[in-house]
Amino acid sequence: MPFHLHEAVPWGRNLEEYDEIFAIHAIPRGARILDVAAGPASFAAEANADGWRVTAADPLYVSSAAAISERFQAARTLVMEQINRNLSGYRWDRIGTPRRLEARRVETMRAFLKDFERHGGDRYVEASLPKLPFADAAFDVALCSHFLFLNEATQGRAFTLASVKEMLRVAREIRLFPLVRMDGQSSRLLPQILASVARQGHSATIEAVDWSFQIGATHRLVVRRPAIAA
Ligand SMILES: C[S@@+](CC[C@H](N)C(=O)[O-])C[C@H]1O[C@@H](n2cnc3c(N)ncnc32)[C@H](O)[C@@H]1O
Repeated sequence: MPFHLHEAVPWGRNLEEYDEIFAIHAIPRGARILDVAAGPASFAAEANADGWRVTAADPLYVSSAAAISERFQAARTLVMEQINRNLSGYRWDRIGTPRRLEARRVETMRAFLKDFERHGGDRYVEASLPKLPFADAAFDVALCSHFLFLNEATQGRAFTLASVKEMLRVAREIRLFPLVRMDGQSSRLLPQILASVARQGHSATIEAVDWSFQIGATHRLVVRRPAIAA
């Protein structure tokens, strides 16, 4: 049975994984980055320590650190059950074993919680797509990892289109990953998203990633707003 969850659960990645997914190293230090649907990722904590100016946004941040930790523990059981039932849906050469994956996610969540308790709402903003509480072009780059296309079957076309448009309102460039759904099938909405952003005058590219885990999750979508003439 393919991997399936009814809703997006708190399950987070670290800076090294974000770098493999989004080529963070190629973004100049000091750039303003928004991580949308950031969940318990330690990306914001680690990247801020390394010189980028990262804000994380997720509905989860309405909760206390203790409540987020509890939700993570519940998600951990669910996700690990699904992964163990669907081992062939993933490449294990980099991560090793499901146990090592679980340990990595726990370590990431701990780093996130420490930073969340320290920086609270200054860095971790409660926000739910398809609306974001930020000014137009407030960020240089907005990222969205493991949320939009992954959950498109439950979230639907209108939500996904509106979310992409909203991310492009608050950032000059957006990077989205993966371009497959939770069941590993290619996104059915991607062609419509590409047509929609082209109609809005943005340029889109599909780029290979260095990250390799979910089978089929090999590319990211990068969309850039047109440069404003001087
Ligand atoms: C699988 S986690 C991804 C975390 C992180 N981006 C990463 O790749 O490590 C998905 C996140 O989406 C968040 N989420 C759920 N509904 C959302 C919405 N409407 N807008 C933004 N984020 C949402 C969940 O709270 C959860 O933390």
